[in-house]
Amino acid sequence: KKAEAWSARFSEPVSDLVKRYTASVDFDKRLAHVDIQGSLAHAEMLHAVKLISQEDLDAIRGGMASILTEIDAGRFEWLLDLEDVHLNIERRLTELVGDAGKRLHTGRSRNDQVATDIRLWLRGEIDTQVDLLHQLRFALATIALEHADTIMPGFTHLQVAQPVTFGHHLLAYAEMFGRDAERLIDCRKRVNRLPLGAAALAGTSYPIDRERVARTLGFDGVARNSLDAVSDRDFAIEFCAAGALIMTHVSRLSEELVLWMSPRVGFIDLADRFCTGSSIMPQKKNPDVPELARGKTGRVNGNLVALLTLMKGQPLAYNKDNQEDKEGLFDTADTVRDTLRIFVDMAAGIKVQKDAMRAAALQGFSTATDLADYLVKKGLPFRDAHEAVALAVRACVDRKCDLADLTVEELRVFHPSIDEDIHAVLTLEGSVASRSHIGGTAPVRVREEAQRVLDETRK
Ligand code: ARG
Repeated sequence: KKAEAWSARFSEPVSDLVKRYTASVDFDKRLAHVDIQGSLAHAEMLHAVKLISQEDLDAIRGGMASILTEIDAGRFEWLLDLEDVHLNIERRLTELVGDAGKRLHTGRSRNDQVATDIRLWLRGEIDTQVDLLHQLRFALATIALEHADTIMPGFTHLQVAQPVTFGHHLLAYAEMFGRDAERLIDCRKRVNRLPLGAAALAGTSYPIDRERVARTLGFDGVARNSLDAVSDRDFAIEFCAAGALIMTHVSRLSEELVLWMSPRVGFIDLADRFCTGSSIMPQKKNPDVPELARGKTGRVNGNLVALLTLMKGQPLAYNKDNQEDKEGLFDTADTVRDTLRIFVDMAAGIKVQKDAMRAAALQGFSTATDLADYLVKKGLPFRDAHEAVALAVRACVDRKCDLADLTVEELRVFHPSIDEDIHAVLTLEGSVASRSHIGGTAPVRVREEAQRVLDETRK
């Protein structure tokens, strides 16, 4: 059968290689549901403005219902000859209902059709991912609440810096994922504009009602310029950028999970179902999931760069280049969604080794800053206090002991204003409890913040 929708214009068919090269149906068929949803809204509008009859509309509705059933049952025959999801569905509709099917494309082009489909699809994807981000925040805040008092070393330059609470550390990620959710919600505003009506590029001479279609499909409004509506994919780029940031945050968390799970550190253990063994070394339990998440971040970053590069050289309006937007976009969506799902589950199963965290916090003079702050409260300028404590630390390094191991008399060598009350200051508990301002690591604050995140994300 003569498959190409435009074959009347051509004197020879395209070669098989060109057919495969230009076809997108293998990957854009996942837009089938939204494509049909968009077509039904378009048909309903065509009828409302008297461009097609009630009989045509009924026929289109019936045909599309059958097509949906065929697709969902895996019985729909996708043809490479018909290039993409749009032509495949339209051709089948015409097979099923005749002329009504041929009238559906009145006042429409695949250019505004595909832009509409991607937006409808992406809107649903964004809603799913925002929900997953909140689930992940909920899981993190739950452990944070449980570990508001659990002390671990906080690091800078991967060297012990100051004691922090494990709850505080986890809530840092809850903040990142909170901003990620905000970014997606903001991106959704720009995704949720209707391109239909732009037709190929210049609009259409039919008396169409775009606002009506927008309402039917739940768009917040219509795209205001037909050339822009069919050609720009900035909304998809934004989504990929938001996805790259989500993965960047997941990747940082992954890096920490891998580090924490290393037997050399031993801060946490992950449930067995997120790890794998080695085919040669019987003792191994490897944190494959966080490692893969860290690795997949590279792919997601790549998708963003690919889309930006795809767009940058395109003159207005639609160019076939844009067909290349889908695989990267889908891949970003799939990767981010699957990663978030796994992390929600994995976070809930983290086993915390409090003793190892505490032992690590006791090393590396993590309370040196507290000693300096103590001297400042006794009246010393901070720079002088800093120097006195630096000398004390150096003495401890030589003696292979900690600041807290020194007696008051030994400490007074470094400054005479040091008194008996110093030992409370040098404890890990004293150190974290003293940082009780908004954003601080004190257990009271961590409990409050964890509760806030739980309240924000509870279903
Ligand atoms: N499959 C195409 C895409 O993904 C649909 C639009 C094609 N339009 C065209 N004039 N070739 O962008």
